[in-house]
Amino acid sequence: MEKREQLYEGKAKKVFATDDPDVVIVSYKDDATAFNGEKKGTIVGKGAINNRMTNHVFKLFEKAGVPTHLIEELNDRETAVKKVDIVPLEVIIRNVAAGSFSKRMGVEEGRELLCPILEFSYKNDDLGDPFINDDYALALGLATKDELAKIREYTLKVNEIMKEYFLQANLKLIDFKIEFGRFHGEILLADEVSPDTCRLWDKDTNEKLDKDRFRRDLGNVEEAYQEVFKRLGLA
Ligand code: C5P
Repeated sequence: MEKREQLYEGKAKKVFATDDPDVVIVSYKDDATAFNGEKKGTIVGKGAINNRMTNHVFKLFEKAGVPTHLIEELNDRETAVKKVDIVPLEVIIRNVAAGSFSKRMGVEEGRELLCPILEFSYKNDDLGDPFINDDYALALGLATKDELAKIREYTLKVNEIMKEYFLQANLKLIDFKIEFGRFHGEILLADEVSPDTCRLWDKDTNEKLDKDRFRRDLGNVEEAYQEVFKRLGLA
């Protein structure tokens, strides 16, 4: 496979074309942004951690019957993936109250939710990724009914797999965001799963070991990413 021109540069990743029209190469950067790009910084070593961690969990999802865009890891920062059209939805699961949910609902961070919440945001930077529901998605043609059903089924499965996976590393999965894409008519899990996109708290102390350390200026950002990586046995 031959790497060709850059197709896109996002906040945390670049995407390159290849000689195969169905395959692109994702390259993970150390750049970090928060609050819709208002806060910018670098988390040294993040690109390699997010690449390795995403690929590792995507393989677990595949084994459990959740199809993903993963083809193969090429090096510590780059992975070949199926070229999907991203469904413009941020799919969020919450197991424990935190972040925008706590703010919106006036619920203290750390309160266990009685059941997981699946929510959608419309992926649109200009609008600040507004909170939407299934009807919005259907009415605006963002996804079909069948696609939403698949997305819901896969996301709940991903949550069960990840909760158990992180618990083995003494980490509580508070919440996370995933994205899906379309590939020849099929819905595939795409994008990434990493401390950028998950809230992970130490099970015993509730220490935050994720991007909130960057968002909230808590310090030891790189150390937190490294700690997660090490605990998962991926270092
Ligand atoms: O900010 P909020 O509480 O809505 O975030 C919920 C989860 O989704 C968090 O784990 C956060 O890291 C993730 N998220 C993300 N990208 C966004 C918004 C949220 O990865 N644009």
